[in-house]
Amino acid sequence: MPVAPAAPPLTIEKLVPGGAGFARLPDGRSAFVDGALPGDRVSVDAWIGKKGYVEASKFRLETAGPERVAPPCPIAEACGGCNWMALPYGAQLGYKAALVVEALERTARIKLAEPPEVVSAGEPLAYRLRVRLHVDERGHVGFFGRRTQELVEVSECLVAAPELRAPIAALGALAVTERSTLGGHFAAVDLRAVPGGEVELELEPRADMEPSGAPVDALVKALSAHAHVGVGGGRRGGLRRYELPDGGFLRVPGGGFTQVNWAVNGALVAAVVAAARKRGARSFLDLYAGVGNFTVPLARAGLRGVAVELERTAAAALREALREQSLAGVEVLAGDVAGTLPRLSRKLRGVELVLLDPPRSGAKSAVMPLAALAPKNVAYVACDPVTLARDLRGFLDAGFALEEVRCFDMFPQTHHVETLAWLRPARR
Ligand SMILES: C[S@@+](CC[C@H](N)C(=O)[O-])C[C@H]1O[C@@H](n2cnc3c(N)ncnc32)[C@H](O)[C@@H]1O
Repeated sequence: MPVAPAAPPLTIEKLVPGGAGFARLPDGRSAFVDGALPGDRVSVDAWIGKKGYVEASKFRLETAGPERVAPPCPIAEACGGCNWMALPYGAQLGYKAALVVEALERTARIKLAEPPEVVSAGEPLAYRLRVRLHVDERGHVGFFGRRTQELVEVSECLVAAPELRAPIAALGALAVTERSTLGGHFAAVDLRAVPGGEVELELEPRADMEPSGAPVDALVKALSAHAHVGVGGGRRGGLRRYELPDGGFLRVPGGGFTQVNWAVNGALVAAVVAAARKRGARSFLDLYAGVGNFTVPLARAGLRGVAVELERTAAAALREALREQSLAGVEVLAGDVAGTLPRLSRKLRGVELVLLDPPRSGAKSAVMPLAALAPKNVAYVACDPVTLARDLRGFLDAGFALEEVRCFDMFPQTHHVETLAWLRPARR
């Protein structure tokens, strides 16, 4: 990778999608500095030169910007997880709204009348239900550093859910006493707190290893005081029950996708269900449905519909949750959204609500077939404002109008933001 020469100190102008601080080099090129905040004056020794711009993940802070605070976590600077922890929480929310405004304007020429509301997480620490720790060959346990695979050792994580504190601390201690067993056999540890359920800890073996023997048994026993422990997928079987705020529940296969912030997820799902009711929707199509995070609450609210999900295990878990809760009005299809939509075109023409919650890459190939269904309402849930903007432009060009944009702070201390956008057919 070409490395551009160092430049004189720069003043960071703003934060951009991706979370980096933006500044301009004296020669006019854009510069992106990970971890730098608006108003910071920073020196960078080595820029990574890209086509038309430069970036850096290491910098010296010459003068702190007006909002910069000491992050509550002692490893925040080195760790790759919480790149905005040196911003007060209120400021984080304002910058997230600004990121969404900028993404919509730059990518889709959509000008919002005012910045979107960002629904606060309430609790900006201790929210993550899932954490993945890496183990190096020396038995150190931690997270990867900012844009590197260098291990940053941890024995506590301030954004992890309270239930995960004890197992993380136990791993930190074992990384000292059982270093060779951990490092010799395992590459990673997945921790997961099931809402209303137990804490699970999965030790992931190094490639081609089948850990066994007394030291491994002793390690598992020590960890079992704090969590239900599995080795190499040993606890992955069966369906977990995730309790929902509305009294229902989801079924989740071991290792299956779920949102990490259950409180904010509850607010997001409640907002979708309330708006669906307000709009008088009785039928829905839930695309990228996962284990039914939206499907189950919509069905519990009395709507009938179809859910589409690529992962067969997630689709099967959703069917099971619907069956157990006697929610008969929903059909679950396992398959690719773009491939499935043409088959649904007759059955779902004029459907009252299309909800889509695609992965970070968005839903580009689904926009046209969806528009052809002529849905009465579209709710787009996005974790990436830039791909959201691209797809919203597709909907607008296909005759829809953007009605509302609202954000949910699912990932405090980071630049990530969840956005809910509502569209309706434009009046002609
Ligand atoms: C961001 S998750 C959302 C899941 C769910 N809506 C939720 O809130 O938990 C995206 C989901 O889309 C699924 N997925 C990814 N690509 C897909 C495709 N081409 N067709 C259907 N589903 C897909 C993934 O398996 C994953 O479950």
